[in-house]
Amino acid sequence: MNMDEYIRLSGIHKDYRVPGGDNVHALCNIDLSIDSGEKIVITGDSGSGKTTLMNILGGVFRPTKGDYFFEGRNILSESNKGLAQFRNSVIGFVFQDYKLLPDYTVYENIELPLIISKKPYSKTDINSVMERLGIMNLSKRRAETLSGGQAQKVAIARALVNNPEVILADEPTGALNSSDSEEIISILFDDVGKDKTVIVSTHNEKIAQRANRRIIIKDGTIVEDIS
Ligand SMILES: Nc1ncnc2c1ncn2[C@@H]1O[C@H](COP(=O)(O)OP(=O)(O)O)[C@@H](O)[C@H]1O
Ligand SMILES: [Mg+2]
Repeated sequence: MNMDEYIRLSGIHKDYRVPGGDNVHALCNIDLSIDSGEKIVITGDSGSGKTTLMNILGGVFRPTKGDYFFEGRNILSESNKGLAQFRNSVIGFVFQDYKLLPDYTVYENIELPLIISKKPYSKTDINSVMERLGIMNLSKRRAETLSGGQAQKVAIARALVNNPEVILADEPTGALNSSDSEEIISILFDDVGKDKTVIVSTHNEKIAQRANRRIIIKDGTIVEDIS
């Protein structure tokens, strides 16, 4: 095995058990290598397996079968605690539906991962990431009062506050208008994501054109991988 390899998925399968029904084969035999710093889009029809693949890359849940190496470390051989620690320290995950806590302020939402990581932090850590995303003025706003574009910036700030190496964004512009979409994608690929590995799933052709590499999945299998 090549020890310089950054991320490698090997023979990944994911079945979902459906009560009283047949299993859903969401991913089938996924092999994928990713270098540090790559900017990748994953495209494919709804139901093709994009979210499942993003969740496995993010260590959110385990595949049914297969291996996941991160810098040579076999992530899936670790305990749930080890997997959670990998997720919290390496991955910044941006969910399609933001998953902000509606009653919490913007500041409090961004602070959450720092509280969870149990490492020491200061107000400056939160303020500087808000500044970077241009949302300082929203600091005291409750999340439920935000527009879609604003909420997505907060979700990105929250994903970045622990300074992750890898940013995973699952259809981050799915609910946004085209000017907000442009802004979000510049933030992810050019600005905050510049020195990071960024993987974005999308239906948006404009976004797909901004990446260095495009992976197309169909019925749970990679059908094209274009650099
Ligand atoms: N929790 C779940 N339980 C059962 N089936 C699921 C679950 N999540 C996703 N699926 C199914 O797995 C397949 C892939 O879904 P998903 O990864 O969400 O695709 P995409 O993000 O490309 O729309 C679909 O057939 C979907 O219905
Ligand atoms: Mg999805």
